[in-house]
Amino acid sequence: MPGVIKEPKDQIIVGDEVFVPFLTEEQIQKRTEELAKQISGEYGGTIPVFIGVLNGSFLFMSDLIRYVDIDCEIDFFKLSSYGDEKISSGNVKLLKELNCEVDGRDIIIVEDIVDSGLSIKYIEELFTKKNPNSVKVVSLLVKPNSLKYNIKIDYIGFDIPSKFVIGYGLDYAQKYRNLRSIYILSE
Ligand code: IMP
Ligand code: MG
Repeated sequence: MPGVIKEPKDQIIVGDEVFVPFLTEEQIQKRTEELAKQISGEYGGTIPVFIGVLNGSFLFMSDLIRYVDIDCEIDFFKLSSYGDEKISSGNVKLLKELNCEVDGRDIIIVEDIVDSGLSIKYIEELFTKKNPNSVKVVSLLVKPNSLKYNIKIDYIGFDIPSKFVIGYGLDYAQKYRNLRSIYILSE
């Protein structure tokens, strides 16, 4: 039940690094509802497939689709590029394939965060080969100053600075995904 766990916490300490509150649960929910309304308005008449990129997008995906008020389907697939580090390895591996039929469908890729853009570029190329009707991308967070690839993100929750963030699905060495709000590394 929301409200039982006290958040945001004042700070989160990981070794000698300190994370401080950045986006509250209320800010995240409000923006997610706005994105869902926009998407619902633009996809009326078709049944889009929301495809979440595991693991990071699982909370955003579950909140987003509960604010969507048109018929839709969901699926997930899994990539790995970060290992347990804060810096991207620059490699992307496919760890879990899609189960749904992409041919002729309207696909909405759901990401937690776009950093260099490598993951999204890889995903878009993968999908384009499967002959969808359309492919769009929604990401809760984007680090515009970190983008290294020429990609289009159709729906953006928040543009954020190029600093590491945790919480609300986002991990640091697989931890902190269960936090309700988002925390940023302080200098
Ligand atoms: P990209 O391929 O460089 O755009 O990185 C995208 C993926 O890296 C995201 O889906 C996240 O899983 C992870 N990532 C990027 N920045 C952060 C961060 O600040 N915190 C946690 N995970 C991140
Ligand atoms: Mg991710």
